[in-house]
Amino acid sequence: MFIGNLLSSAWRSRRRRCRRVSILLVAISGLYMIMKLDGWDRFVDALFWWLDLMVVVWVLFALMVYILEPLVMHRLFHDFALQEKHRAFALATRLHVIALCVSAFTIAAGVLGSLGSLP
Ligand code: HEM
Repeated sequence: MFIGNLLSSAWRSRRRRCRRVSILLVAISGLYMIMKLDGWDRFVDALFWWLDLMVVVWVLFALMVYILEPLVMHRLFHDFALQEKHRAFALATRLHVIALCVSAFTIAAGVLGSLGSLP
């Protein structure tokens, strides 16, 4: 039991580190591409709406992972999960499905947009 808890907490902290590093890498690679392409003006070009969408999605994930989750959500959700386990799990699942759909849409728009296949 003790070993199990220890492993699961080590696993959780490794996943947390992984999330934080991945989000940082997305920003670094995105900014690198923008600088390399010298494409800052694309952010105000309606044809590149999918680029703005990427940044909005990135900001939402960064806000959640770097600020809301450690400072607010963890405590709030922990209390909620202790009181209403099933509802908390259903809510977390729903929010993750929404995040996954938005990300999948953004990835599809990014691939098609960078190939010039979007209106
Ligand atoms: C700070 C945030 C981000 C910046 C500055 C950024 C910037 C860029 C740039 C400049 C490109 C190349 C566009 C071109 O070829 O003309 C690109 C491609 C792409 N980005 Fe992002 N991005 C960011 C976040 C994201 C996020 C959060 C996702 C996914 C949810 C994403 C998915 C993609 C995809 C799928 C491509 C196309 C790759 C390909 O060429 O096939 N990006 N991004």
